[in-house]
Amino acid sequence: MDNRPIGVFDSGLGGLTCVSPIKKKLPKESIIYFGDTARTPYGSKSPATIKEFSLQIADFLVKNDVKALVIACNTISSLAIPDLEAAFPGIPVIGIVDSAAEEIARTCTEKDSIGIIATKATIKSKAYKKAVESMSSGLALYQMACPAFVSLIEEGIIENEIMDLTIRYYLDNFVKYHGLNTLVLGCTHYPLIRDNIERLYPQLRIINPSECLANAVQQTLSEEGLLAEDSTLQSTFYASDLSENFVNMINRIDTEDQINISLKKF
Ligand code: DGL
Repeated sequence: MDNRPIGVFDSGLGGLTCVSPIKKKLPKESIIYFGDTARTPYGSKSPATIKEFSLQIADFLVKNDVKALVIACNTISSLAIPDLEAAFPGIPVIGIVDSAAEEIARTCTEKDSIGIIATKATIKSKAYKKAVESMSSGLALYQMACPAFVSLIEEGIIENEIMDLTIRYYLDNFVKYHGLNTLVLGCTHYPLIRDNIERLYPQLRIINPSECLANAVQQTLSEEGLLAEDSTLQSTFYASDLSENFVNMINRIDTEDQINISLKKF
């Protein structure tokens, strides 16, 4: 039993899509979230910069006495997990890519044609392919970077013709050429455009890694004896820039917790 908070972090507001599923599954857990809204997007940055920023954020969370580090960012999970594990050896590091790869390996068969969409850095790292292939062989996996999605989502351009056109620009040929029947939203911003994608491609089964991450958090905390018993019913959200969209998205999180929002600059 451990009532300390979980540290959850992302390059910006996308990781907030992981908070509601975690709170739903683990309502007694308090969360300290950090979104690097001042330096987002990470997806077009070099691996060295992504690692450096991730270590800074993790250090801040560990100094706030978190009991686990939950990486609600596919880009960070793809590139920085070994560095985070080496820097913070006593703390479980739970990455979103591995938790989604488990779901893909468990639920897909050789008959499926699986598309993975993500940032440039995630796609270049091949982290999804490597993780899935280490768990299951023979699956047809195709990946594509969709770099314009994050900027539009951070700007709140979602229920909009521009977003639909951008989705079709990336996905029309990708879906058709590979005959996709499954699509993995390999960036934590993308669940925010899930409705658009489902409307444009109703034939696709969508895998949302943000939901898979909640299962992995529950499993790790339970295995390590770290589940909370008495909740403080408080969660704190830090961002390096308190943008209007970040604050608006926090207000949409489904939780009974008292919510604190603070600025944290590096
Ligand atoms: N939320 C990040 C992810 O899941 C991507 C956003 C960014 O490029 O910073 O990969």
